[in-house]
Amino acid sequence: MQRQAEIYTRGVAGTRPLIPVDPRRLEAAARARMTPQAFAYVAGGAGSESTIDANRAAFERHRIVPRVLCDVSSRSTAIELFGRRLPAPLLLAPIGVLELAHREADLAVARAAATLGVPMIFSNQASVPMERCAAAMSGSPRWFQLYWSKNNELVESFVRRAERCGCEAIVVTLDTTMLGWRARDLDLAYLPFLRGKGIAQYTSDPVFSAMLAGAAPAPAATAKRRVTLHSLRALVQMARAYPGSFWANLRSTAPLAAVQHFTATYSRTNLTWDDLRFLRERTKLPILLKGVLHRDDARRALEHGLDGIVVSNHGGRQIDGEIAALDALPGIVAAVAGRIPVLLDSGVRGGADVVKALALGARSVLIGRPYVYALALAGEPGVVEL
Ligand code: FNR
Ligand code: LAC
Repeated sequence: MQRQAEIYTRGVAGTRPLIPVDPRRLEAAARARMTPQAFAYVAGGAGSESTIDANRAAFERHRIVPRVLCDVSSRSTAIELFGRRLPAPLLLAPIGVLELAHREADLAVARAAATLGVPMIFSNQASVPMERCAAAMSGSPRWFQLYWSKNNELVESFVRRAERCGCEAIVVTLDTTMLGWRARDLDLAYLPFLRGKGIAQYTSDPVFSAMLAGAAPAPAATAKRRVTLHSLRALVQMARAYPGSFWANLRSTAPLAAVQHFTATYSRTNLTWDDLRFLRERTKLPILLKGVLHRDDARRALEHGLDGIVVSNHGGRQIDGEIAALDALPGIVAAVAGRIPVLLDSGVRGGADVVKALALGARSVLIGRPYVYALALAGEPGVVEL
């Protein structure tokens, strides 16, 4: 109500919202602003993208039945999560490579999150190191999302850094041990990581740097390759993304080696339930599992002493033909029986969707693509406005 009144009141003075309020128009406007590669990466999903459609269809299928004559003069959207009172049942989902949307990337989002008191979940594939984002957020809540690297020392280092950055929970994403088959990106033959984008948590990490220094240069780093204008451009992009002086980076093999080392160690495909003990023994922070869609996996999460679940299909980016996150929610909520909080993302586009998710038992939802579009269109103030 407050937000609505603010928009109309400002309208009297001739000011319109910075970004389209309607989520479809928001996406269309961002598409017009972003490069084709950046938009494809953000908007795209796996295969025929039927999972993206299923996410939306599930929200459409569930309809709201209101009740009348309830006193609604005093209202609150606040919730409590892991002992923290939050202004709304919202968090910003971990989203990698935000530099595709805006120059200030994660930093703009961190400032916007802090303005609102909405938790930001730092992505393991961020464009800005977590320390810089944390420094811009004063006491505002933040979490860290982990991709479990092949190297446990690196996992430990990420978690240590997250703790030092004041992160209040660790979200382990389990649905992206391998990158999905993404038709839009494949058609453009474009993967941001290969241009040094979205690996800032790695290039800023002491363990990763030590691994890099110790590793023999990958054959491709030294082999003579056919140099094209495109490959030169990629090298320039890598040099720009790598920490330190651009000109020094351009002459160094480190940026390319970092990309190659990241690709080689990004994720452990043989991760199993027992490995979670490694994390449990190293942090007292609440640990959530992201990407759980089966009730038996939810039960196992309880057995293994996990602290929360994020029901998610990664916004339809990983598996084509997958169950909608919202359709998986009630079964998981029943299996968990209130013992740990269940969060949801994938397809949330507006307030009505939040109401539906909460009505089906979610404690809170994560906002994904919409905030990337807001960022692309209007930077930090755009994300605040969303
Ligand atoms: C993501 N997502 C994601 N998840 C994660 O755990 N770590 C990550 O680095 C990323 N990166 C990422 C990049 C981009 C461009 C997108 C769109 C998504 C998944 C994200 O956290 C969330 O699950 C989905 O975005 C939810 O779906 P919707 O609401 O965007 O459709
Ligand atoms: C993605 C990875 C970064 O979905 O999670 O693109």
